[in-house]
Amino acid sequence: MSSEKDLTGPELQRMSRKELVELGNSLDGVRVAAEEPGRGAADARSERRRRRLVTLLLVASLMFAGAFIWVYNLWPSAYVPPGAPGHTTYLFYTPLLGITFFGMVAALAAAMVLYVKSFYPNEVAVQELEIGPSPETERFTAAATFAEAGEQTGFGRRTMVRRLGITAFGILGLVGGMVGLGGLVRNPWEGRDDSPLWTTGWKPIGGETVYLRIATGDPTDIRRVRPEDIDQDGVVTVVPFRESERGDIEKLRDAESSPDNPVQLLRLPPDTQVRNLPGREDLHHGDFYAFSKICTHLGCPATLYDSQQQILLCPCHQSEFAITEGGRPIFGPAARPLPQLPITVDADGYFVARGDFPDPVGPSFWEIRRGSH
Ligand code: FES
Repeated sequence: MSSEKDLTGPELQRMSRKELVELGNSLDGVRVAAEEPGRGAADARSERRRRRLVTLLLVASLMFAGAFIWVYNLWPSAYVPPGAPGHTTYLFYTPLLGITFFGMVAALAAAMVLYVKSFYPNEVAVQELEIGPSPETERFTAAATFAEAGEQTGFGRRTMVRRLGITAFGILGLVGGMVGLGGLVRNPWEGRDDSPLWTTGWKPIGGETVYLRIATGDPTDIRRVRPEDIDQDGVVTVVPFRESERGDIEKLRDAESSPDNPVQLLRLPPDTQVRNLPGREDLHHGDFYAFSKICTHLGCPATLYDSQQQILLCPCHQSEFAITEGGRPIFGPAARPLPQLPITVDADGYFVARGDFPDPVGPSFWEIRRGSH
C-alpha cells in the first residue's frame, strides 16, 4: 500500500468512512485530545425530548416567518395621522415587523444551539493549520469527515428535523431577499408630483403662508424669524410653520421631526461675493440664504458652518458645500448642491417660503433627473 499521502483513488475508495476520517485527521495533523457523546445521547428519553424541542423551535421559527411575510405585505403601513381611524393599527406596523423577524431568527438560532449541544459529540481537537490548496486525498477525507459528523449527530436520520431546518433556513433567505426587493416592488411614485421624494413640508397647501420657524424642540414655543433676529455670519435651523397649525401639538412636532424639513438659514456679511448657480439667482433674500440641512450624499445633517469660508460641512464623510456658490459641493463624496429654499419677507417682516425646494432633498435616487414638482 502507498504511503498515507500518496494513496490512489481506488485505494481511497476501498477504505471505510472511519478509516478515511482517521486518515484525514492524521494528514491534517489533527489530534483528538478528548471526545464524549452529546448530552442527547445519554438515553432514548432524553434524545426524544431534545428532538421534540428542536422540532418545536423550528416550527415556531417558520410560524414567525409566515407572520413576518403577512405583516410585511398585508398590514396597513401607509401613514395615518393621530386621531384619524386606523392610526393605532398603523403604529403597530414597525414593531410587528421587528417582533416577527426577531422571533424567526431567535427560534432558529435556539434550535441550532440546542441541536448542537444535544447531538454533537463534545470533542477537543488540536490541529496545526497550513496555507494552500488541498490535495485530492484531503478532499476525500474532508468529505468523509462531514458525512461521519452527519451520521454521528443523526442529522441524516432525523428527517423531520433536517427538512424543517433546511426549510427554516430557506425561508430566512427568502425573507432577507424579500426585504431587499420589497422597496423595488412598491411604487414610490403613486402620488405623481406629490410623491414623497419630490415634496417636503415646505410645499404650500391651499395658498396658506409657510413661515420659517426656529426649531426649538418645543412645539409650544413658536418663534417665527425676522431678518433682525440673525446676526451677521449667523446661522439658525428653521422648520415650516402655518398659522392653521398653531396649538396643534402633533402637527408642530411633525414639522420638526420630519427628516426633509430642517433648513439652515444663514446670513452672509454684506458685500460678500456670491456666484449663484444657474436657476438659483433669486432664491435668497438679500444676504439671507436658506439651504436644506440634509446632505445630498447619504442624508446626514450637514450642520457644521465655517463662517470664515462660508462653507457647510457634513461630519459623516466630510462633504463641503460652498454657500457663496449656491451650495455647490466643493469637497467630499456629495455630488449635488444642497437644495436651496426660495425665501422672502412678508409685510409684517417675517421670513416666509415662496414655495417648496425646487430640487429633491437628501441623497440622490435613480429617477432624480426625471423632473420634480
Ligand atoms: S452623508 Fe454627508 S458626506 Fe456622506
